[in-house]
Amino acid sequence: MDQIKEYEAIADAYADSMRLPFRDAIEKHTLLEMLGDISGTRALDMACGDGYYTRLLKRLGASETIGVDVSAEMIRRAEELERREPLGCIYRQSDVADFEPPEPVDVVVAIYSLGYSRTPGQLRRFCRVCHDALRPEGRFVGLNDNVRNPPPAGASWRQYGLQRTCADPPSEGDAVRYILTNDDGTRFEVQNCYLSRDTYEEAFRAAGFREFRWVDVSLQPSERGNAFWDDFLTHPPIVGFAAER
Ligand SMILES: C[S@@+](CC[C@H](N)C(=O)[O-])C[C@H]1O[C@@H](n2cnc3c(N)ncnc32)[C@H](O)[C@@H]1O
Repeated sequence: MDQIKEYEAIADAYADSMRLPFRDAIEKHTLLEMLGDISGTRALDMACGDGYYTRLLKRLGASETIGVDVSAEMIRRAEELERREPLGCIYRQSDVADFEPPEPVDVVVAIYSLGYSRTPGQLRRFCRVCHDALRPEGRFVGLNDNVRNPPPAGASWRQYGLQRTCADPPSEGDAVRYILTNDDGTRFEVQNCYLSRDTYEEAFRAAGFREFRWVDVSLQPSERGNAFWDDFLTHPPIVGFAAER
């Protein structure tokens, strides 16, 4: 729970960080590529924070979107944004590990959420709940710390407003610290736990997904050829994943 309290304290800065170029040009672009056409689908956003991506799913045409977060404060913020600009998003305060949607959904999304699992057992539980929330052939997609190819200790993403520190080489359960610097100079930190690529792959298998793949992050077409992105793409700090029930 300490990580959740820490997160609430930086909620405003985290929301502002959506303006950092990498979050749009790489993070959001990669998610959109993984999602494809989701119009008319029922979608679930696991560990939704203030609902940034829950709202995006609705704007992309999902017929129903539910955002789930363990933090009452984050759900309050999401509901406040829904009141200000009604889109029809539904929010529920719950630990992901205990959540069951009223009806099976077509797509589950988890953006920077799996990294809150401190142990392989917690990660398996997270994946199992997401699997069980889906209809057969439903999809689970998201973004995470790059456990597939952990970046070398010397890799730097300062020009993108991002620093990442972790033991090199990392061991199961090690802290992964992200320090973000917004355009206005505000600095804040988000802490996750490192679990290995094998542990992730095993968690998806054990949850019952029939297909799982890592997805390289990609750059939105309008930015391709811009050398500014070279360092990010040489050692991406984040990776996508896509699984099918
Ligand atoms: C880094 S934020 C990501 C928020 C959102 N997915 C986004 O990308 O904007 C992580 C969120 O995960 C939530 N969280 C962490 N562990 C959780 C759990 N076990 N169940 C539900 N929410 C959780 C925190 O409260 C926080 O809002």
